[in-house]
Amino acid sequence: MALGTEILDGGGAVRLTWPDGFAARFHAVWLRDNALDPETRAPGNGQRLIAVGDIPRDIRIGAAEGGDDLSVTFTPEGKTVAFPAPWLRAHAYDRRESRVPGWLSETAETWRGGLAVPSADFARLESDREALGGWLEAVRRYGFAKVTGGPVKSGALMRVAGLFGYVRETNYGKWFEVRTEVNPTNLAYTGLGLQAHTDNPYRDPVPTMQILYCLENSAEGGESMVVDGFAAALRLRDEDARGFDLLSRYCARFEYAGSAGVRLTARRPMIELAPDGELIGVRFNNRSTAPIVDVPYEDMAAYYGAYRRWAEIIDDPAMAVSFRLSPGESFLVDNTRVMHARKGYSGAGSRWLQGCYPDRDGLLSTLASIEDGAREAAE
Ligand code: FE2
Repeated sequence: MALGTEILDGGGAVRLTWPDGFAARFHAVWLRDNALDPETRAPGNGQRLIAVGDIPRDIRIGAAEGGDDLSVTFTPEGKTVAFPAPWLRAHAYDRRESRVPGWLSETAETWRGGLAVPSADFARLESDREALGGWLEAVRRYGFAKVTGGPVKSGALMRVAGLFGYVRETNYGKWFEVRTEVNPTNLAYTGLGLQAHTDNPYRDPVPTMQILYCLENSAEGGESMVVDGFAAALRLRDEDARGFDLLSRYCARFEYAGSAGVRLTARRPMIELAPDGELIGVRFNNRSTAPIVDVPYEDMAAYYGAYRRWAEIIDDPAMAVSFRLSPGESFLVDNTRVMHARKGYSGAGSRWLQGCYPDRDGLLSTLASIEDGAREAAE
């Protein structure tokens, strides 16, 4: 099952062909930079020991031999290194498909109303690493998940965060109380219904995840709703490509100055694309959108048209998944993607939630480490 090799461009690249017909080209400079030998990569921590400037400007592939692995000799160094064929295949970059703006990572899956709420039991998540992996995978895929059966105790939300990562402290504290206050510093601390939104778009960097943890919920109303901001953005793109382009090309402004000594501002688009068009984030919050001044006069009316249409899509009940939190239940939401909302509440009874902002990098790191462990166990 030998790998086929063909040296291209006078040694500037090599084309590899796998026995099943899969083929990919790799550049000499790319292979040299990513060599896996112990002089290029530190054996213990896997970090690179060379800098790009250490690679000869005239690097070439002098010889390439394909067995189970690929063996490459670089000139003028005269250095020979081996690459496992599965590693090369997993890192192939010679793709042909063109990516349309708004393309998604393959780990994300968009949804609308009707999605069964991903959920897991708190005690199980604390004791069973495989169950934790499954729950974190659901968060990566859908951008939210619920936890049931947690302690009805102030601060218990920190134990949910501790399952996978670390909490970011802000001017609202390490965690904050979400309940009706007499002189609220934020409309979240009232009984008003809140339109679907992402939290704190006025922060840079924005909080990447949020936990909302229920301690009391006997008031009339107050149901929680989530909307997939990626699904809403792609629906806008499919209905109105120009509107999608306007909301992703121009920055909006966001601001919060609701309590003494705090004035947070950020300038970011409502729909954020990576430079190659990957959809990587959404920001939507009617309460904290500041005057938008980065859209040229000629485009402002069309920009507002797109903003209005996007808001209509977000408000469309067909996009929302609703659930009611009981004491000891919580949900984790990817604040760069999924919007959350609550229905207004009033009357007798009370509603008391606590919230905090863990970071997503820690969650993805924990998940990747669980997945690596599962892969190693299977091998
Ligand atoms: Fe919120």
